[in-house]
Amino acid sequence: MELLPLWLCLGFHFVTVEWRNRSGKATAASPGGCKLVDGATDCRGQSLASVPSSLPPHSQTLLLDANPLKTLWNHSLQPYPLLESLSLHGCHLERIGRGAFQKQGHLHSLALADNSLSENHKETAAALHTLPSLRRLDLSGNSLTEDMAALMLQNLSSLESVSLARNTIMRLDDSVFEGLEHLRELDLQRNYIFEIEGGAFDDLTELRHLNLAYNNLPCIVDFGLTRVQRLNISYNVLEWFLASGDEAAFDLETLDLSHNQLLFFPLLPQHSKLHTLLLQDNNMGFYRDLYNTSSPQERVAQFLLVDGNVTNITTVNLWEEFSSSDLSELRFLDMSQNQFQYLPDGFLKKMPALSHLNLNQNCLRVLRVGEHELPGALTELDLSRNQLSELQVSPGPTGCLRSLLLFNVSSNQLLGIPKGLFANASSITTLDMSHNQISLCPRPALPDPRGPPSCVDFRNMASLRILFLEGCGLGALPDYPFRGTSLTHLDLSSNWGVLNGSITPLRDVAPTLQVLSLGNVGLSSSFAELDFSGFRDLRDLDISGNSLTSFPRFGGGLALQTLDLRRNSLTALPQRVVSEQLLRGLRTIYLSQNPYDCCGVEGWGALQRLQTVADWAMVTCNLSSKVIRLAELPEGVSQDCKWERLDMGLLYLVLILPSCLTLLVACTVIFLTFKKPLLQVIKSRCHWSSIY
Ligand SMILES: *[C@@H]1O[C@H](CO)[C@@H](O)[C@H](O)[C@H]1NC(C)=O
Ligand SMILES: *[C@@H]1O[C@H](CO)[C@@H](O)[C@H](O)[C@H]1NC(C)=O
Ligand SMILES: *[C@@H]1O[C@H](CO)[C@@H](O)[C@H](O)[C@H]1NC(C)=O
Ligand SMILES: *[C@@H]1O[C@H](CO)[C@@H](O)[C@H](O)[C@H]1NC(C)=O
Ligand SMILES: *[C@@H]1O[C@H](CO)[C@@H](O)[C@H](O)[C@H]1NC(C)=O
Ligand SMILES: *[C@@H]1O[C@H](CO)[C@@H](O)[C@H](O)[C@H]1NC(C)=O
Ligand SMILES: *[C@@H]1O[C@H](CO)[C@@H](O)[C@H](O)[C@H]1NC(C)=O
Ligand SMILES: *[C@@H]1O[C@H](CO)[C@@H](O)[C@H](O)[C@H]1NC(C)=O
Ligand SMILES: *[C@@H]1O[C@H](CO)[C@@H](O)[C@H](O)[C@H]1NC(C)=O
Ligand SMILES: *[C@@H]1O[C@H](CO)[C@@H](O)[C@H](O)[C@H]1NC(C)=O
Ligand SMILES: *[C@@H]1O[C@H](CO)[C@@H](O)[C@H](O)[C@H]1NC(C)=O
Repeated sequence: MELLPLWLCLGFHFVTVEWRNRSGKATAASPGGCKLVDGATDCRGQSLASVPSSLPPHSQTLLLDANPLKTLWNHSLQPYPLLESLSLHGCHLERIGRGAFQKQGHLHSLALADNSLSENHKETAAALHTLPSLRRLDLSGNSLTEDMAALMLQNLSSLESVSLARNTIMRLDDSVFEGLEHLRELDLQRNYIFEIEGGAFDDLTELRHLNLAYNNLPCIVDFGLTRVQRLNISYNVLEWFLASGDEAAFDLETLDLSHNQLLFFPLLPQHSKLHTLLLQDNNMGFYRDLYNTSSPQERVAQFLLVDGNVTNITTVNLWEEFSSSDLSELRFLDMSQNQFQYLPDGFLKKMPALSHLNLNQNCLRVLRVGEHELPGALTELDLSRNQLSELQVSPGPTGCLRSLLLFNVSSNQLLGIPKGLFANASSITTLDMSHNQISLCPRPALPDPRGPPSCVDFRNMASLRILFLEGCGLGALPDYPFRGTSLTHLDLSSNWGVLNGSITPLRDVAPTLQVLSLGNVGLSSSFAELDFSGFRDLRDLDISGNSLTSFPRFGGGLALQTLDLRRNSLTALPQRVVSEQLLRGLRTIYLSQNPYDCCGVEGWGALQRLQTVADWAMVTCNLSSKVIRLAELPEGVSQDCKWERLDMGLLYLVLILPSCLTLLVACTVIFLTFKKPLLQVIKSRCHWSSIY
């Protein structure tokens, strides 16, 4: 018994030593929890309160992000004189000692994002001024005002890239970026800038990329940064964009003016290399048709440019908005979500290199595009969600639309497509005509361009692969509607009755189809046969929202991966199909919203185990007029079902048997009771014939 305390003591001692040794080993292996990855010392998120002093002294890259350092002292970085890149993102920094970077002659990239550097900004500015070769500086998210920013950037003439995003800068005057003559990239997004003084960017002769997104700029007039290649002023409140009217050549390549309040097409430089112009979500329109004025004075707007005591007046002709702009190299033009009612004559002709044109969500009613006007390079044309009732596009003899790959006219009011439109569109692969009240031509259309088209013919569009015809009010498909095409994707959903009982109109494309949507088309199992055996490549089939009561038939070699059977009238899945054919390649199947019979779900365990049923939690079944989630169906319910059926038989037996017995007994009693008198009656009635 005396030994017990000793053992306990020894045991405790042993445990303590073990623990000490283990923790000691951990710190030795990686001081401060830092890792060496590809020559960079990574100490991110280690709860360090100071910069560790025992890191490899030749470190060139040090990542200290997300450590609560609070202060960077004069001595903090002294052990690392060869640092080239330092990241102090989110370190709660309020103070950077004046001499903190004194020994960092090699530092060229410094990230100080998301700290509180506005607290001691003068000291921080002094520290930054000791960095003679700094090229990249990230000061985003530090609550800096324009004065603080100006102070910090003063004389840092080696800078090439500066981020001041997410600060509290409100206006830019000509002192903020003074002397930054090597700056190529400036990020000012997410500030509160409402005013930029003329000359604010004058010293930035090398500036290439300027981001002013998410500010409060009401207009840009006399834009003259000729060296800027990429300008982003999205998400402001711009009503005007007006480039300086002179003949200067601009390097501008990408201009993002999306999500503003522009009323007019921007007045762009007369000479530029613009290839991407983003104008979506503004209030733009062309107004020449609307304001049909003959007096020239009413067509111009005059801008007063006030610079100190000098006032200049710029006059622009608003009804010729685009005519002076250089759009010759434009490749990508997004004008979606605006108020365009028409495209002026010659508009597209100014953009011979245009490959993407997005006019989605405008107010176009009739699209008139003259001969020779459609850019030959056009590959994507999106006219969806307008009010187009007519396309008057006359393709020129040079074969315009020959590069067109995608044409989207969904959600318009088209009745047809001009017959010659696609005559030369030999590359077109994707056509979206959903939500137009079109009909398909009953027989191959003759190339007769006269008269408005009343139907659409897809036959012999050899390049067509993807065709969307959802909700087009299509009647029953004519014969061979897709002959001569090799469609891989076809969407015919929400066209009630389009198949009129059989899928034979699809036989031409059955061997090539990979994705087929037949949701809400009124299929029912009473139709002759829903047989997808010929669809050898079919991967994705949607037959939801029909009234199928039985499972469609699939051939043996089917490649089906996804099958949607929701909202039908299935009461059971045939065991044979489920187990043999489908499960082999099927990855996803949707089965909910069918009135399954809980007593017919025996083989479903296999399905559940394979996890192919994507909506398993929502599959319900019907058990004696109760609706139960299949996932919650208790074990052995099939046994209960048998019992239930048996019970019903028994119930009937129990109900009927006594009645029968009672009836029988009653009959017997009656019979026995009345037997004698009856005989007597007969006897008495017939006594005259008796021979007793
Ligand atoms: C500490 O760990 C090392 C290596 O794992 C081992 O060799 C040594 O014996 C341990 N020391 C003690 C006191 O347990
Ligand atoms: C840091 O160094 C600067 C000069 O390089 C000096 O003026 C300042 O007092 C130092 N700060 C501290 C806290 O030692
Ligand atoms: C910036 O440079 C100018 C002229 O070279 C000099 O007068 C000024 O003191 C410098 N400012 C700072 C903060 O170093
Ligand atoms: C402009 O800036 C916004 C906000 O950062 C960004 O979403 C958008 O992609 C940028 N535009 C271009 C063309 O880079
Ligand atoms: C505009 O003027 C032209 C002739 O100058 C005329 O044909 C046209 O109908 C007018 N349009 C409107 C909308 O007034
Ligand atoms: C005003 O116009 C004159 C001459 O065209 C030009 O030199 C000057 O820079 C302009 N000033 C402003 C503020 O646009
Ligand atoms: C503009 O103001 C400056 C002084 O601020 C003055 O020297 C100059 O003459 C003025 N110019 C005009 C056109 O008034
Ligand atoms: C365009 O189509 C028309 C009619 O189908 C044809 O005569 C013409 O040769 C085609 N042009 C080109 C460039 O393919
Ligand atoms: C066509 O445009 C509509 C609406 O803008 C969009 O939902 C649909 O995805 C587009 N179709 C294609 C094929 O890009
Ligand atoms: C639909 O099918 C029925 C019988 O299969 C046929 O009589 C009828 O004409 C078809 N309707 C159309 C519009 O083709
Ligand atoms: C249960 O099944 C019967 C037919 O067996 C059907 O009429 C009824 O609508 C189903 N109940 C529900 C809630 O689906």
